[in-house]
Amino acid sequence: MHYLLTGGYGCIGSWIVRNLIDQGHQVSIYDLAAHTGRMALVMSREEIDTIGFFEGDIADGAAFTRAVGDLGATHIIHLAGLQVPVCRANPVKGAMVNVIGTLNVFEAAKANPGQIHRIVYASSAAVYGREEDYETGPISNDAPLKPLTHYGVYKQCNEGCARVYHVENGISSIGLRPWTVYGPGRDFGLTSDPTKAVKAAVLGRPFVIKFGGRNNMQYVDDTAKIFIRCAEAPYDGAGVYSIRGEIVTVDDIVAAIERAVPQSTGLITHTDNAIPIAPDLDDRPLLDDIGRIPHTPLPEGIAHTAEVFRRHHLAGTLDVSDLT
Ligand SMILES: NC(=O)c1ccc[n+]([C@@H]2O[C@H](COP(=O)([O-])OP(=O)(O)OC[C@H]3O[C@@H](n4cnc5c(N)ncnc54)[C@H](O)[C@@H]3O)[C@@H](O)[C@H]2O)c1
Repeated sequence: MHYLLTGGYGCIGSWIVRNLIDQGHQVSIYDLAAHTGRMALVMSREEIDTIGFFEGDIADGAAFTRAVGDLGATHIIHLAGLQVPVCRANPVKGAMVNVIGTLNVFEAAKANPGQIHRIVYASSAAVYGREEDYETGPISNDAPLKPLTHYGVYKQCNEGCARVYHVENGISSIGLRPWTVYGPGRDFGLTSDPTKAVKAAVLGRPFVIKFGGRNNMQYVDDTAKIFIRCAEAPYDGAGVYSIRGEIVTVDDIVAAIERAVPQSTGLITHTDNAIPIAPDLDDRPLLDDIGRIPHTPLPEGIAHTAEVFRRHHLAGTLDVSDLT
């Protein structure tokens, strides 16, 4: 198997690469630049040096199609994307990367017939509306989608396009809808605040998490393993699945940080603005179709995150630019 990851130097990508290398797979990355800082939190320099790199913009379809053909990739994990703040500030750029970029991934598979066994792509829980838009209890995978951001609408569009590529071209894909992914390497986007709060706690700095209410917290190593399972599971279709981590309040997150870093008690606070995305999502269809998936309890995930940050802080290798 030869895995090609778009946006592979990002947070989720770094952890997927780490898992794939542990499993002995060949891995290449298509990204804007080889920024290896996130990977360096969880991988050695020797491991990072084994990764193939193809520099390019996912909005450049010809370049991506060439990369897929030249590399002989068999599986694509498509993560390249701009997050909510960038899509809000520049919706046209957001659509170029998040929508046209995703079409380019499927077009590249179409242009290299029989080569790509599976595309797994990052959709998002942002396809759902607010918690109060749904009845209580876990929200089913096929509940009405009511995204409230351009970003969420782009992801909804991608899910529809993936379905059409299966119907018309037989391309097998799985879309995953993460909520808040946290852990070492998460440094951008609104829901990166819990991870930044852990970093601030380790450094003994105050930090305000800019939201409150309930969250669906997913430890990044679990998310990475789920992407890989979806790439390898026997499957034919164009399914899209919610992911369920731990449904907790931001107060629970702060308490877990204080337990992991007791000297930070009182330093981490939060506002009351709820993120307009329903957190209580049903992951039974994912379990039914893909099988058992890993689940790291929040206190354990937060403690591990703090331990990685502490180790790099002591070694003088912790990047703290995301806190300013
Ligand atoms: N992190 C989360 O909580 C979360 C939740 C829901 C969905 N997602 C989705 O998962 C995917 C990965 O998230 P992440 O947290 O790893 O993001 P990230 O911001 O850490 O990484 C994104 C990567 O995409 C690359 N990229 C951006 N524009 C590109 C372009 N035009 N061409 C090629 N590469 C480009 C960046 O350089 C970066 O390496 C994204 O599509 C995101 O929308 C993430």
